[in-house]
Parts: sequence; C-alpha cells; structure tokens
Amino acid sequence: MKRRSLSLHLLLPLILVSLSWMMISIEGHAQHYLGKEKVTHLHFFYHDTLSGDNPSAVLVAQPNGTKVGNGNPGRFGEVYAINDPLTETPDPNSKVVGYAQGLYVSARPKELLLVFVVDFGFTSGEFNGSSISVVSRNPVLETDRELPVVGGRGKFRMARGFANLHTLFLSLTSGDAVVEHNITVFHYE
Ligand SMILES: *[C@@H]1O[C@H](CO)[C@@H](O)[C@H](O)[C@H]1NC(C)=O
Ligand SMILES: *[C@@H]1O[C@H](CO)[C@@H](O)[C@H](O)[C@H]1NC(C)=O
Ligand SMILES: *[C@@H]1O[C@H](CO)[C@@H](O)[C@H](O)[C@H]1NC(C)=O
Repeated sequence: MKRRSLSLHLLLPLILVSLSWMMISIEGHAQHYLGKEKVTHLHFFYHDTLSGDNPSAVLVAQPNGTKVGNGNPGRFGEVYAINDPLTETPDPNSKVVGYAQGLYVSARPKELLLVFVVDFGFTSGEFNGSSISVVSRNPVLETDRELPVVGGRGKFRMARGFANLHTLFLSLTSGDAVVEHNITVFHYE
C-alpha cells in the first residue's frame, strides 16, 4: 500500500509534464499547417443553364422508365452534373471568377428540392486556384436560403462557413437559374 502511493506521488508530476508537452507540440503542429484564422466574404452570381446547345448543367441519371427531356427538370431522382460559371455581376457576360462543379440530385418527390455536392473553385484574383466545398440541401423554390460551407482547398484550407443565396431568376420549364451568392468563410491560409 505504502509503496504504491509513493510511486504514484512520484509519477503524477511526470505524467502532467508530459501531457502538457504533448499539448504544446500538438498546438505547434496545427500552427505549422494552418497559420492564422481569417474571415473572407465572397460575392458572385451563379448561372445554372440547362437550356440551349451549350448547357452548363446536364442530366446524367434519372429514375428507370422516365422519358428523357420530359419538360419537367428536377423530377425526383434526377441527377445533374454541373460546370456552372460564377460571375462578378448578374450579367452572364460579366467577368467569370470561377466555376461551381459537381452534382445535384432532385431529392424530394412532388416538390422541387435539390441536394448539392459542389466545389466552388475560383479562377481569378486572390483566390485563384482555391475552392470551397458545399454539401447541402438546397430548397431552390425558396428565394432566400442558406447553405453550409463544409471545407476548402488552398487559401480556403479547413474552411467552414455559410452561403446566403438569393434567386434572381428561375425558370421551372427550362430549369435555368441565376442566383446571387454571399458567402462568409472562416479559413486558414
Ligand atoms: C426498368 O424498367 C423496366 C420496365 O419497367 C424493367 O423491365 C426493368 O427491369 C427496370 N430496370 C431496373 C434496373 O430496375
Ligand atoms: C490562375 O492560376 C492559373 C494556374 O496557376 C494561371 O494559369 C492563371 O493565369 C491564373 N489566372 C489569373 C486570372 O490569375
Ligand atoms: C449580398 O451582399 C450584398 C452587398 O454586400 C447585399 O447588397 C445583398 O443584399 C446581399 N445578398 C444576400 C442574398 O445576402
């Protein structure tokens, strides 16, 4: 009994010292990889075009038995691949600052609801080559909605944040849409 309490008495300071050393080393490690945390606001316009000869969004899968081009884009079960330009102003001919690339799936029967798995990659300015990841439901029939930013690359390493979306234009017959994005991103660089 006496021996055991004695050795604990000796060991405890050692354990505490090595624990605090571990914590310092983990913190040093994180700083080495991540640098300082920053907050960045991004503002751009997203153009999703299904119509015409040069669509930026294409149907890649649909429920068995549905007719292709049924004139009802976004039917439950449809999956689209996108390469949607992001521009500086609502004008589609304004400067392109990046592309939203990935997939969306129509995820609710009877009512239009998309789920996005999309990388917003930037091709100009300070964030050229960096991107943020958005994985979220996107209730496109609500004019204003919020989507989460769940990660990022490059200058957006370890990003998290939120995207406020505001629809400027949506055609339920063609599926075409123009959506303003205001994104607040917390990240390290
Ligand atoms: C697709 O639908 C057809 C006709 O209803 C059916 O014969 C076929 O087995 C279905 N295929 C699959 C993979 O479910
Ligand atoms: C963005 O980065 C790419 C690759 O590094 C480079 O080729 C391109 O010129 C850059 N664009 C702008 C507008 O800076
Ligand atoms: C986005 O930000 C701009 C300017 O900062 C503001 O005018 C606009 O109302 C905002 N839109 C949304 C959808 O938050």
